[in-house]
Amino acid sequence: MMSRPQQGHGSPEFTEKFGEMLKLARLAFKNNNGSQFAFTGSGTLAMEASVVSTVQPGDKVLVLDTGYFGQRMASINEAHGAKVVQLSYPMGTHANPDDLRRNLREDSFRAVFITHVDTSSAVLNPIKELVAECKNAGAFAVVDSVCGLAGEELNFDGLGADIVFTASQKAIAAPPGAVLIAVSNELLGYFQKRAKPIEGWYLNLLRWKPIMDDPKIYLATPAVQIMLALREALLELKEEGLEERWTRHRLLAHKIREGLQRMDVKFVAEEGYRANTLTGFIVKEGIAPGVQKELRETHKIEVARGLGDYSGRMIRIGHMGILNAEQADRTVKAVDEALAKFGVAASVPHPIGRSGSPGP
Ligand SMILES: Cc1ncc(COP(=O)(O)O)c(C=O)c1O
Repeated sequence: MMSRPQQGHGSPEFTEKFGEMLKLARLAFKNNNGSQFAFTGSGTLAMEASVVSTVQPGDKVLVLDTGYFGQRMASINEAHGAKVVQLSYPMGTHANPDDLRRNLREDSFRAVFITHVDTSSAVLNPIKELVAECKNAGAFAVVDSVCGLAGEELNFDGLGADIVFTASQKAIAAPPGAVLIAVSNELLGYFQKRAKPIEGWYLNLLRWKPIMDDPKIYLATPAVQIMLALREALLELKEEGLEERWTRHRLLAHKIREGLQRMDVKFVAEEGYRANTLTGFIVKEGIAPGVQKELRETHKIEVARGLGDYSGRMIRIGHMGILNAEQADRTVKAVDEALAKFGVAASVPHPIGRSGSPGP
């Protein structure tokens, strides 16, 4: 994309492709009923746009904190004047719908913020049950599916959430730099009738609605090449089939975890709530940087470490996007060899305390 001649952001050539990309995004979200947005920025921008558009200063919101990205959501809400109640879970455990129901009975909240897969812990939250509790209680449900969508089952129309967003660089497998956001008709109606109008400008989803309906209208210059690359990635997703991509992610996640289990590593996420998009496991304190370096330099495999306090003792393997069985096997073998160099994985009791201080 970068080596092709530049297309004008307002040219018919580009605006038509942008429109096609939005239609393809609807397939990835299974969003036929709501509005579909795409704009330039990273996943954090989608988090903030959701907050700015949905929450009025002084509103009470509930944030389900199952790790670093739930905590970021709480922090963004606070920055915009929301009264935040945080329901925090120990690292590796999922958000429990029964807890949510109790909290929603005791108090009333404008919105509940849920992380589909918290990338810091590799926990897959039960979004169907969690969103259903929000809907029963009349609270808007906002789902951060940056690390879920296209790799984990998600049906926007069927789910009933008010916002689901993702970013280009994860299971959709496009370069970073674009976000996709689905918004329910109910929430879009609320944007229009809020007592206080939405305060943000670039982050005001309502302002972007006419552009999504007609991409020929100018609001702000999109990252043209990234949008074109996103269109290509969504075409590949369509070609593979969404359900088929979910299945591939499930099978490869299973393969990788099975391989790691033979090494007797301790998974961070509790059983039954392990994501299909990435796996996190604990190693002996302090060796994670060395293991990461070994995998990068000797095996040409890029893995992430834990965030914050977990930086020295947690390895996270991303297995989302374009990955096949041979690559999964090679990754497991490489991890085995790298760990052997550092005296294999140590056992740390599970579940392990809170995620502690933020910061990648
Ligand atoms: C679950 C989740 N939410 C939000 C973000 C933030 O996205 P970005 O880094 O693109 O701003 C990430 C990034 O990894 C994420 O995994």
